Amino acid sequence: EGIVNSLDTFTDEENMLRESVRKFSEEVVAPKVRDMDENEMMDPEIIKGLYEQGLMGIEIPQEYGGSECSFMSAIIAIEELAKIDPSVSVLCDVHNTLVNTIFRTWGTKEQKDKFLTILSNGSVGSFCLSEPASGSDAFALQTRARKEGGHWIVNGSKMWITNAYEADVFLIFANTVRFTLTIKVDPSKGYKGITCFAATKDMGIQIAKKEQKLGIRASSTCTLNFDDMKVPEENVVGGVGQGYKIAIECLNEGRIGIAAQMIGLAQGAFNKAVPYTYERKQFGQSVGTFQGMAFQIAQAATDITAARLLMYNAARRKEEGKSFTKEAAMAKLVASQVAQRVSGQAIEWAGGVGFTRETGIEKYWRDSKIGAIYEGTSNIQLQTIAKFVQKEYS
Ligand code: CAA
Ligand code: FAD
Repeated sequence: EGIVNSLDTFTDEENMLRESVRKFSEEVVAPKVRDMDENEMMDPEIIKGLYEQGLMGIEIPQEYGGSECSFMSAIIAIEELAKIDPSVSVLCDVHNTLVNTIFRTWGTKEQKDKFLTILSNGSVGSFCLSEPASGSDAFALQTRARKEGGHWIVNGSKMWITNAYEADVFLIFANTVRFTLTIKVDPSKGYKGITCFAATKDMGIQIAKKEQKLGIRASSTCTLNFDDMKVPEENVVGGVGQGYKIAIECLNEGRIGIAAQMIGLAQGAFNKAVPYTYERKQFGQSVGTFQGMAFQIAQAATDITAARLLMYNAARRKEEGKSFTKEAAMAKLVASQVAQRVSGQAIEWAGGVGFTRETGIEKYWRDSKIGAIYEGTSNIQLQTIAKFVQKEYS
């Protein structure tokens, strides 16, 4: 589209990747979107296709079977998939920007050999931080791990875990503080005991519930229970007590991914509704050419471009090793607002047709609501941005 092409900052490799993900999304994903939404189930053939396209190990080095592409490439893939289906997009997003990133950044050589190899070759990953009593206040988590011989024994429960239904690999954040005599912490700083554990399904992960949702219905969201689950000592990722840092640092990256998902979603709704407004005639004229419509469409095109620039800027800053936490929070905040606004308007632009399930426009609007909730609600993004502003101006 013109909007994307007007941003001339991509490498040839990134442009080629965009084209190939677009083709995959349109040819393989698009025909299945409606059924997957209605059945609330991800089609395993799509997951297989994502692996065949090299999208599930997009940043993983080739020595572990990955595609070894840039972070920007991972972001472009998420954006392109979301134009057709935000559920497929978030499956890929969590797997890459959260799970694979943690192993790539903090994994030992042995962990990389073991986990990156399977994660780029058929095993889906999930990121298990939130719990029934700790969502925004994520570091107040209650899941506990205690050491027994060469193992950690994990007890607790996780809620809202994306990909859990399809996953083989689970990164579980649990607190070790109560049981670790060597770490002396102020109780209010209990989060300094949070530790990241790599677990596989066969260790005894129980799926207690699969949610029924308003949107992204093909993406699984589950509650998990751990009942004296044994995790080998060598599966601690990044060291005991490093979990909170690992979680929030990869979420800073993940938030750029969610911004990309929301921008792809907004563009997808725009792409479906706008051509219709030029075909549909009322009062002897294409409805999209009435000034009241044309200006809304122009505003939406501008909003999508503005959000997209914020998102690409955050992604480039991350690639260049510059600070990007504030920029990622701003990009996610704005992209989720734009996605909600544009997808809502897209329904109205198409009139009654937009309100039916048949065109798929209403689905974008249902899918857009989640952007303001997961990977930190909009208030949490504002809180993050506010801290930077206060630091800069006081
Ligand atoms: N980047 C880096 N470090 C950060 C940070 C950020 N954005 N925010 C906080 N920290 C660090 C602080 O520097 C501090 O570290 P030190 O003690 O080492 O200095 C520590 O975290 C605690 O900081 P605060 O006391 O300021 O933070 P808090 O306890 O009030 O809240 C938070 C911290 C839990 C990270 C909160 O700001 C937050 O982001 N909540 C949302 C949680 C979230 O995003 N969950 C997503 C789950 S995954 C998901 O949703 C996936 C999906 O759907 C697809
Ligand atoms: P709460 O924290 O209870 O927030 C409720 C309201 O209070 C919100 O509007 C919030 O903005 C507001 N609020 C809270 N604290 C403050 C504050 N300090 N200042 C101002 N307002 C505040 N988690 C994972 O770990 N892994 C996943 O894969 C995952 N996937 C998800 C998929 C879906 C579909 C959903 C719905 C959630 C997922 N989550 C996942 C959890 C998600 O990150 C949390 O839902 C989110 O962080 C918000 O937590 P909460 O739902 O407990 O809301």
